[in-house]
Amino acid sequence: MKINKLNFLALASACLLWHPPVLASHQDTQPSAIKQMMHPNRSWWKSAVFYQVYLRSFKDSNGDGIGDINGLISKLDYLQQLGVNAIWINPHYESPNKDNGYDISDYRKVLKEFGTMADFDRLIAEMKRRQMRLMIDIVANHTSDQHHWFKSSQSQGNVQYRDFYIWRDGRSDQKPNNYPSFFSETAWEYHPVIKKHYLHYYLKEQPDLNWDNPAVRQGVYQDILFWLNKGVSGLRFDSITTISKKPGLPSLADPSKFEEEYAKGPKLHDYIQELHHRVYIRDDIVSFGEIVGYKGDEIANFIDPKRHELDVAIDTNLMFFDRPAGYQWLIKPFRLSDYRHAIELSNRARGQHGWTTFFIANHDNPRAVSHYGDASPRFRVASAKALATIQMTQPATPMIYQGDEIGMTNYPFQSIHEFQDQALINRWDNYVRSGKMAPNVFLYHAQRVNRDNSRTPMQWDHSPSAGFTTGVPWLTVNPNYRWVNADQAIHDPQSTYHYYQKLIVLRQQYPTLIFGRYRDITTDDHVFAYLRESGAHQYLVVTNFSRQAQRFHLPAGKKISQILIANNRAFQLPFAHHTLVLPAWHAGIYRLQSQANP
Ligand code: NOJ
Ligand code: CA
Repeated sequence: MKINKLNFLALASACLLWHPPVLASHQDTQPSAIKQMMHPNRSWWKSAVFYQVYLRSFKDSNGDGIGDINGLISKLDYLQQLGVNAIWINPHYESPNKDNGYDISDYRKVLKEFGTMADFDRLIAEMKRRQMRLMIDIVANHTSDQHHWFKSSQSQGNVQYRDFYIWRDGRSDQKPNNYPSFFSETAWEYHPVIKKHYLHYYLKEQPDLNWDNPAVRQGVYQDILFWLNKGVSGLRFDSITTISKKPGLPSLADPSKFEEEYAKGPKLHDYIQELHHRVYIRDDIVSFGEIVGYKGDEIANFIDPKRHELDVAIDTNLMFFDRPAGYQWLIKPFRLSDYRHAIELSNRARGQHGWTTFFIANHDNPRAVSHYGDASPRFRVASAKALATIQMTQPATPMIYQGDEIGMTNYPFQSIHEFQDQALINRWDNYVRSGKMAPNVFLYHAQRVNRDNSRTPMQWDHSPSAGFTTGVPWLTVNPNYRWVNADQAIHDPQSTYHYYQKLIVLRQQYPTLIFGRYRDITTDDHVFAYLRESGAHQYLVVTNFSRQAQRFHLPAGKKISQILIANNRAFQLPFAHHTLVLPAWHAGIYRLQSQANP
């Protein structure tokens, strides 16, 4: 499909017309194959539970309204009690913050607002003391336009750095080709002094590095080693699939397929392999890679251990299955079948030996409860627990996004002026100011899908600004903080927080939930049901994705022999029955047994 005004309008309003989502002990004794997988020397990250901290919004320690490293340190006990083993922090480096740290101006410095290098060292030490590991973000597809490489790249005399980025002549006063940017209409910016255009797949303040230049790659590796030497245990590679560019940069036949095309650089796998060999000096360092532009088994190559590329794929299709291709900022109503399909594909991505991570939200997406659950007061907690049940029973490493453990929801944005996301502001200019889209249609999508929904400050308690800061928070706090906050959750034994805690323990006690076979046995579009199996162990995970009670038939010849966990307190399971009636948003994990067994 070509991007033009007419079919774009049809697409955006079709999204609007679709109906909104239905709202708005035993322990495992394991067969030897699984015992082997659980061996402590083997891939600690497979059985670990990760937690994503968006530093800017997590906890402010000095009242400037911006979360920081000392704020995170003050909450490590909270995270340890939740049961997490590892933390991924979004970029913590010096940056002009056009894209909240994904535009790095100095890879060896800590962003002043986040603290000092001494604070960072203390974070590592405090985490080690709690046996937790730290994963940092490596943004190497691009730098900030304030990075000294880019500044030198523009200087007339210093040609050495020119080739660190991708500069091209325009075609008779036009852009060098028709590449769109993820965050604006064109991926090219003209430099009036140099009289050339430079490539930026994201914001114009994020020029793409030229990975074909060996000096660029060496520079990136040295920066990564600097942090590994400090005791970092994991690297999350941002936009890793776009680092290799197509020779000659030919225009795209179909610009709406730009994501797939940007991910097809011929040297991609060579560069990831080189990266692997140059920087993963120890086997216990884990590498996660953000996979953009690939689906299902196409992802397997990146995480096949024999190829020495990445350990864990971050499959963005787990989030983007309800967006029109090429338009991640438009949202279609949630359909369980689409979600299940995305999970099924992600399972295929692992292939025989690979590994992935399972997430229900992150800093680029809406809040999980508002996205796939039911954020209404009546069902918020039940649906947050249902999503947690799914997240913790996938054959993939769970990555909990900050605030999901207390069921935080989207912010009630009413106007474009409340958003800070520069990508959204660019799109407003491109689509609304230019008349391509009505403001209310734009806002409809932004309210449901924009990244700022998940970037509002973490809600710690019911004091002003939710206990996030004593100052003015950089982005407004969700007004529901008075009843949705961590303090409330800790004191309520029925909270989502305590439910997560229990799930994390179960995941450790029942390795079949991590390593066992996954089999989707769903039969309708309201109930999501799957089995996790190994040897004689068989567990059913069943979730009612609706506001109505739903019937569910157990697999033939099976009965429930044990409830591992369930999210509805008062619900009694009829052990002897073959048909279950699941209350609204019910979720549970059940051990199954053959009917014949006593
Ligand atoms: C993916 C990151 O998750 C997102 O926040 C960022 O804007 C882009 N990559 C560009 O770095
Ligand atoms: Ca601060």
